[in-house]
Amino acid sequence: MKSHRPKPRVAILLSGTGSNMDAILNACKQGALWAEIVLIASDNPDSPGLARAAKAGFRIVAAPYKKGIPRGENEQPLIDAIRESQADWIVLAGFMRVLTSHFVSSFPGRIVNIHPSLLPAFPGAHAIVDALQAGAEVTGVTIHIVDELVDHGPIIAQEEVFIQQDDTEDSLAARIHAVEHRLYPATLQELFHEDT
Ligand code: GRF
Repeated sequence: MKSHRPKPRVAILLSGTGSNMDAILNACKQGALWAEIVLIASDNPDSPGLARAAKAGFRIVAAPYKKGIPRGENEQPLIDAIRESQADWIVLAGFMRVLTSHFVSSFPGRIVNIHPSLLPAFPGAHAIVDALQAGAEVTGVTIHIVDELVDHGPIIAQEEVFIQQDDTEDSLAARIHAVEHRLYPATLQELFHEDT
């Protein structure tokens, strides 16, 4: 516990279920992650995770992306909300939009992502199915700092998950998510407090 130092301010971005968000919120509540969640934002107003965050009393922002307008314009409300929240870190927890280089360079070295494979293997939105279809024997979880390429940037943690012969997408996803829910809060704690 780092109770002698201020809590870093953290914005979480998500698009869907939000199970990684839940793991992060629980770790904060239990004191395993010394951080204050100052904003939870989504491109998807119907995200179940966003609804839970609102119910739990967090500041939420829904910034639905509109078709036919540039990505940069769609993400501007998110950038504005993050700036307004004075977040020190931006944690992507299943945020399914590619960020523009303007977004990434607005918060250099301060955006963290989790991806369900051992990057650089299986980047993209279907990493779990792709690993299964490729007949891989091992996949896993990667946590990295976001740079201007997709699912790319300095890796800060990785953990293997072995693929079993009878694995389905659901069974493999369940084991990967279990690793994510343990590894993400622990890695964020180390990253935020690495000088202590
Ligand atoms: C996770 O598998 C994460 O690695 C990927 O998107 C998924 C989000 O799941 N980036 P959830 O919304 O946290 O349940």
